Amino acid sequence: PSVRCLGKERTLGMIKPDGVSGNYAEEIKRIIVEAGFSIVKERLTQLDKETASEFYEEHSLRSFFPDLVSYMTSGPVLVMVLEKRDAVTDWRGLIGPTDAQKAKISHPHSIRAFCGKDSQRNCVHGSDSRSSAEREIKFFFKDVVSDDIASQHDEL
Ligand code: PPS
Repeated sequence: PSVRCLGKERTLGMIKPDGVSGNYAEEIKRIIVEAGFSIVKERLTQLDKETASEFYEEHSLRSFFPDLVSYMTSGPVLVMVLEKRDAVTDWRGLIGPTDAQKAKISHPHSIRAFCGKDSQRNCVHGSDSRSSAEREIKFFFKDVVSDDIASQHDEL
């Protein structure tokens, strides 16, 4: 099969403030690598109110938005570009459902079941589609492309 058929995909992963402050980052990164992802880039960053609001702007009309922004600015987050075949879907699968309480029942081996608390303090974030992944990778890593077209060119 050609390299193009094996084309890898990239997604944005984030360890949220409760994950970083609870010292879960190293264990989560171990789970990520064990699941076959490469961590292409990573950066520890403290979001300010403006940046968090822009990142979550699609939820700006939701009642939980002010809480979400204040939580996401409560401490540093670790943002990562994750790469593998079907990265977007597979990363969403690995993190489990938004509500960590539900995750503990329905997806007991997921990352949110492991270290999340509820719908807000759910430890990790993942892009929900390829287009979100493209936007979110650009948002945090202006120098990274969202797929591996560059490396495909190298191989072809
Ligand atoms: S929805 O209804 O499907 O659009 O919502 P969902 O994708 O599950 O959640 C969107 C993000 O909002 C966070 N969230 C909350 N924050 C604070 N309080 C409450 N009640 C709440 N519910 C959802 C949730 O953690 C999602 O964050 P990300 O980073 O996208 O996973």
